[in-house]
Amino acid sequence: MNIDTKHKKIIEIVQEKLACSAHNLDHVFRVCNLCLLIAKYEKDVDLEVLIPSALLHDIARVEESKDKTGKLDHAILGSEIAEDILRRLQYKDEKIEKIKHCIITHRFRTGNEPNTIEAKILFDSDKLDAIGASGIARTFMLAGQFRQRLIANEPLNNYLEFNTVENGRLKDVSKHTPFIEYEVKFKKIPDKLYTKKAKEIGKERLEFMESYFNRLMLEIDGIK
Ligand SMILES: [Fe+2]
Ligand SMILES: [Fe+2]
Repeated sequence: MNIDTKHKKIIEIVQEKLACSAHNLDHVFRVCNLCLLIAKYEKDVDLEVLIPSALLHDIARVEESKDKTGKLDHAILGSEIAEDILRRLQYKDEKIEKIKHCIITHRFRTGNEPNTIEAKILFDSDKLDAIGASGIARTFMLAGQFRQRLIANEPLNNYLEFNTVENGRLKDVSKHTPFIEYEVKFKKIPDKLYTKKAKEIGKERLEFMESYFNRLMLEIDGIK
């Protein structure tokens, strides 16, 4: 089986698995495109590792959303599901281990740091998709899904006290808003990125996002 056929098979499997709106196949393709862009600015990137990693990185996202214990980590479970798929597609052990490392370390909260160039590129690309125009669209898709308001009327510290539990998880997702997500999470993203090109893109995307939310505030307050 050639590489293109393998990628097509992976896409078919991932499409079936991903149903929720903000982590659907479009997110996977955007991440994949960003990976290819950033890879052009880095040396010795193995696309045979990077592309399947990007395609499979959120394969367990739906399982994590369904999990009521809050303990299921889609990065860890995803790496196990990916291993099965890759074995069936006859990937070599050495590639499978590298792909699993990328998937396990793509997540903020896991605590495992990406230590290969492919893992760093996937981490950066996945985080970049949360900011900029795509990030705004995704955060409002989620807001619609969970019937959130555009902004909350109370001070941020009050909100964080009553609506977060351990690991930064939310008690009540319907009380969350896109603006809070921007203030608490998205603003920090560019500082957490590894590659030079991603940092550059991140800075520019955040500037765009900031001007959008500033404008939104003015419109809500009836100033513009
Ligand atoms: Fe993820
Ligand atoms: Fe993702």
